[in-house]
Amino acid sequence: DDYDLLVVGSANADLVTAVERRPGAGETVLGSDLAVHPGGKGANQAVAAGRLGARTALLARVGDDAYGRLLLESQRSAGVDTVGVLVGGAPTGVALITVDPSGDNSIVVAPGANSRLTPGDVRAAGSLFEAARVVSTQLEIPLETVAEVVRVLPAGTRLVLNPSPPAPLPEEVLGACDPLVVNEHEARVILRGAGAEVPAEPEDWARRLLALGPKSVVVTLGGDGALVAGPDGTARVPSVEVDAVDTTGAGDAFTAALGWRLGAGDDLETAARYAAKVGALAVTRAGAQVSYPSGEEVAALDAASDATSDV
Ligand code: RIB
Ligand code: NA
Repeated sequence: DDYDLLVVGSANADLVTAVERRPGAGETVLGSDLAVHPGGKGANQAVAAGRLGARTALLARVGDDAYGRLLLESQRSAGVDTVGVLVGGAPTGVALITVDPSGDNSIVVAPGANSRLTPGDVRAAGSLFEAARVVSTQLEIPLETVAEVVRVLPAGTRLVLNPSPPAPLPEEVLGACDPLVVNEHEARVILRGAGAEVPAEPEDWARRLLALGPKSVVVTLGGDGALVAGPDGTARVPSVEVDAVDTTGAGDAFTAALGWRLGAGDDLETAARYAAKVGALAVTRAGAQVSYPSGEEVAALDAASDATSDV
């Protein structure tokens, strides 16, 4: 395979301001000076994998504008192959983001060019799919485009789906996921969309999600780590304790790292442990792509925690 990971998804310019608290309806609050960062769940995943050392390609659409160039530049500097990044058709997607003092964010996305990434674009990129070991996608592009990804997926190629922002998923898509990666909120929407009840315990969410068809499921639990579930049962993966500065895009880094490690042959639990470290490091710095760690930084984190556990 030429690519360890092919990411199909969105690319946004993130317009970020820090606030003391979010405004309510009809209210105005003042935030910090504006920061403009490369973002978007698809573009974030590709940069995260590229920075870790995975051979990565991105299939996405940006506008023929300054934000589109910012996004292309960010991909290239992470070593991502941008042959699949289509340009034009609408302005580059924009995410309006507020970050609060605890590092949590609220996001509104204006999809722009992301909404013009079509099933036809997926079919035209057939050679990228043939060359990829793992394909990863999310829901900031049209659902029909995601469904087309499932249809063109070559036999033996693994699909990772993070249904974010969450929407009820057709069986055809659910059944192709290995794994389906969800946080608590996404788990609830997918379960309700399938007419299933939402149980109290995350272990039960994972089991019930698995019953909807995915070959495996990962539930991310923020500071409580993650839960993995597959045919062999469920396991908890611990979180790495860090001081949260900005959680924006940490889930994207987690999912990209997970997909890459699975393709490299790790089992689900081992891959999720690695991914949790990547996500944790991403949380310690502002921004999404600009906060992602290199493989060396993840290794250094391992060395530090080994040293602590020796004491
Ligand atoms: O997951 C984080 C991302 O969500 C941000 O980079 C923003 O662009 C939105 O897509
Ligand atoms: Na961050």
